[in-house]
Amino acid sequence: MKLFFTTLSIMLISMSLQAQNSQSKGRPVYLDERQPIEARVKDALSRMTLEEKVKLCHAQGKFYSNGVPRLGIPGLWSSDGPHGVRFEMNWADWGHSGWEIDSCTAFPTLTCLAATWNEELAYQYGKGVGEEARYRNKNVMLGPGVNIYRTPLNGRNFEYMGEDPYLAATLVVPYIKGVQSNGVASCVKHYCVNNQETNRMGVNVEVSERALREIYLPAFRAAVQEAGVWALMGSYNKVRGQHACHNEYTLQTILKGEWGFDGVVMSDWDGTHNAKEAAYNGLDIEMGTSNRPDKGIFGRNFRFDESYLGNDFLKGLRDGTYPMELVNDKATRVLRLIFRTAMNRQGFGKMDYAAHSEIVKQIGSEGVVLLQNNKVGKTPLLPIAPSQYNKILIVGDNATRVLSHGGQSSELNPQHETSVLKAFQDRYGDKISYAQGYAVERNPNEQLRQEAVEKAKQADLIIYVGGLNKESGQDCEGSDRRSMGLSFGQNELITALLNANPRIVFVMMSGNAMELPELKRMPAILHAWYLGSDAGDIVADIITGKVCPSGKLPFSYPVRLEDNGAMSFGAESYPGVNGTQTYKEDILVGYRWHDTKGIPALFPFGYGLSYTTFKYGKPTLNGRTVTVAVTNTGKVEGKEVVQLYVGDDQASVLRPVKELKHFKKINLRPGETQTVTFTINDDDLKFYDEASKGWKLEPGSFTLYIGSSSTDIRGKLKLSI
Ligand code: BGC
Repeated sequence: MKLFFTTLSIMLISMSLQAQNSQSKGRPVYLDERQPIEARVKDALSRMTLEEKVKLCHAQGKFYSNGVPRLGIPGLWSSDGPHGVRFEMNWADWGHSGWEIDSCTAFPTLTCLAATWNEELAYQYGKGVGEEARYRNKNVMLGPGVNIYRTPLNGRNFEYMGEDPYLAATLVVPYIKGVQSNGVASCVKHYCVNNQETNRMGVNVEVSERALREIYLPAFRAAVQEAGVWALMGSYNKVRGQHACHNEYTLQTILKGEWGFDGVVMSDWDGTHNAKEAAYNGLDIEMGTSNRPDKGIFGRNFRFDESYLGNDFLKGLRDGTYPMELVNDKATRVLRLIFRTAMNRQGFGKMDYAAHSEIVKQIGSEGVVLLQNNKVGKTPLLPIAPSQYNKILIVGDNATRVLSHGGQSSELNPQHETSVLKAFQDRYGDKISYAQGYAVERNPNEQLRQEAVEKAKQADLIIYVGGLNKESGQDCEGSDRRSMGLSFGQNELITALLNANPRIVFVMMSGNAMELPELKRMPAILHAWYLGSDAGDIVADIITGKVCPSGKLPFSYPVRLEDNGAMSFGAESYPGVNGTQTYKEDILVGYRWHDTKGIPALFPFGYGLSYTTFKYGKPTLNGRTVTVAVTNTGKVEGKEVVQLYVGDDQASVLRPVKELKHFKKINLRPGETQTVTFTINDDDLKFYDEASKGWKLEPGSFTLYIGSSSTDIRGKLKLSI
């Protein structure tokens, strides 16, 4: 009997194996999902004509690039990025297609994510955006952006993750893993040294090798080596004389050589300028292509095959100008990306607004930074108990504006965006009144100001919602801000409001550091970024104390614009002279500059207040392990970001006083203590040595700073190597 069953099961197994074999025999390897991707790519490539390979290397629509229709291999649909899935766009111009079903969840902008200092939230963010992208049939999400915050004037800072390479590198990794867990590629951008919008299409950046390695590249390197990002976008500017979209050094030597990137390099839209460089220097897909003046192509007059990596490339391959390896390498990479995304059948995403709103709220709640909370009477103004107030006046254009709109490529069509006014009205009904106060006009609007001031005199409390917006010249792609100040007459309005009623909470929407009027008289200031779909609820929860603020600044607020390193060197450093700019502050970006030069920031990197207080115990060092106990000594539950900075006591080169190397965000109930540990590794101590072209650890003494911000240091240790 036993023998019978054994024979039967052997027969059944072998029959099923035969069935499987005959299935895979009939199916080409590239279509067989059980085969490894590399085998499928190789097989697909072997079946393709030269023309089909070249077709993979350039766009065929504004946000579409080719597949191989004859073989049933789909093309790639891309979308901006990075805060949600963009409006559907026209085939060949920048217009909206006008679909009614292209709404999305608007996630808080990336500066807000950086201000959470929370890796788990970065993963949830990426996962949520990726789910919506997959649902909307997008294969490549154009983002996240990890260009370093070099000057407060950069119009695109809000799309990036602040001034510190370690913070940006730490958060970009889970974001990308989250997106890609859906079979959607992240396309990390804009590689590299694209730190301003002024002259962005061609400014030539001269930057030292050390600053490149220590400041501007680490987040890209982490995206490649730790997150395994599948795509990367070259930037518009030139790097040391050559356009970044076909820059031999940054793409071939560093990205594909040193870092072993196996994904696809896409150009920024119209960022390709030279056929030969595009062929040789590591560009895989050319996007855009409305700038072939030599072929009479401008703007809307698209002819996609006239790309540099289109007909020019094909001709060069046919007549032997270019070796076939060039197109085979590009096509292999594009196929790999297609197999990872468009031909990857794992799930189909979801447009779960309710679940994604929860993530938005968490990110916003942990990202808003409480900059100031002075006493009015005996207690700090925030949080407020609305029961104490009968008349709350909300003032400001940003209290009602849909801030997910605008900003250019990062614009979104949110399924809902709750304004601050709406959130307060929903909660407190008749107690709430509104005055616009200022309008987005060239000249300040006297009438609006006067109306607001009159209403302010009658109110018990004013919530002023202002700052920047997403219009050109504010926080918006394509141009930089002209100054660090507020526009539209907001300074005068704020002074007039304070004169009428000093009980004001300033909710500042902005992706950038600001010059703040009336700082001494303004009791409470929240830096509230752009918070996306649930902006109003997030702000209301913080103002009323439902949420205890825990965001920490991902960049420094200089007192004056010229206190910022990049800005202190004049036009040669920013925005450049005769088409070239030199990063004269070198490695001293952000707090590295303020600390090392002894120029205090108004609000330093890593800073942010709470409704509770935290006491740090004495840190200890055991070998390479740092331990510190942190206690919540206040009355409410709250989160604290424990930060560890390293300084090199004597070095053969200039080193910043301190650099962020570890952090941990913890949640503590009143009275609760938690012990945080960090392990110092060699990489935390090294600098990039230009002479030996490598990272160098110089033995000696190091100071470890444990603090609540880059300047609020609660304990120091000495480490000897
Ligand atoms: C921007 C990119 C964006 C692309 C597509 C470019 O102008 O610089 O960030 O992804 O357009 O919209």
